[in-house]
Amino acid sequence: MAESYETLLVEIRDGVAIVTLNRPKALNALNATVMTELVAALKGFQADAAIGAVLLTGSEKAFAAGADIKEMQGLDFVDAYLGDFISGWDGVGAFRKPLIAAVAGFALGGGCELAMMCDFIIAADTARFGQPEITLGIIPGMGGTQRLTRAVGKAKAMDLCLTGRMMDAAEAERCGLVARVVPYERLLDEAVEAAHKIAGFSQPAVGMAKEAVDRAFEQTLSEGLRFERRLFHSLFATDDQKEGMAAFIEKRRAVFKNR
Ligand code: CAA
Repeated sequence: MAESYETLLVEIRDGVAIVTLNRPKALNALNATVMTELVAALKGFQADAAIGAVLLTGSEKAFAAGADIKEMQGLDFVDAYLGDFISGWDGVGAFRKPLIAAVAGFALGGGCELAMMCDFIIAADTARFGQPEITLGIIPGMGGTQRLTRAVGKAKAMDLCLTGRMMDAAEAERCGLVARVVPYERLLDEAVEAAHKIAGFSQPAVGMAKEAVDRAFEQTLSEGLRFERRLFHSLFATDDQKEGMAAFIEKRRAVFKNR
């Protein structure tokens, strides 16, 4: 039974948790309540062995139009600094199960940054990404300058962060920000299908694949390769490796037990 939240809708479907950001009047602007609720929901999914993947989405008009400007407007430096403003979102980046963003409409500022905290983004053809913080007299604060640069390279990241312009889904796919673009009508089905597929695999293998890809952004190639090799070796200790390979040889579908 899914919990109920003020700013999120949560539906559990066959091992997949579908989380919909739900502040329609504010284009899903990300305030403290959204942050607290989303991080709490993810903690619950982390602890729930039945959940194999999580899908995060918004509305047709907006995945999220950024951090809540009305909430931030009165903040001063000392309060922001001492309160470590916005650091609570790190809880999303720390989530260990696969997290897919299904993005339609605006994904701006913190909305783009939230999508980039997910493991990959499936975008509707209506999606628009941007880091418009510069137009507000600030810069991205939820990882935009770092994750965007790693995702799309310096030229495009500088362009977006310095001009504040938006890019459409086709440009986002071309530059590697999003994994796939689909017509809006197909967005949720496509994302749910991907999430179900992932949720059907061995959770230890899925978790290690995520960890290993993430490591590529943290360290040198030789250290990353060593890290991958150690994880790869460790998976031979699982029953799921025996099952996966036996199923291939016996020409049947593998049934993973996450052991
Ligand atoms: N914060 C608070 N409220 C927001 C919001 C935000 N980020 N984005 C939209 N809203 C609110 C609007 O204020 C408006 O509310 P009211 O009806 O009460 O006036 C409502 O949502 C609908 O928005 P618009 O009328 O502006 O809708 P539009 O279709 O004309 O424009 C938009 C859509 C281009 C996305 C425009 O809303 C916009 O530019 N939003 C702000 C985008 C932005 O600057 N995001 C970055 C925020 S800073 C940040 O995220 C910092 C960080 O890195 C963590």
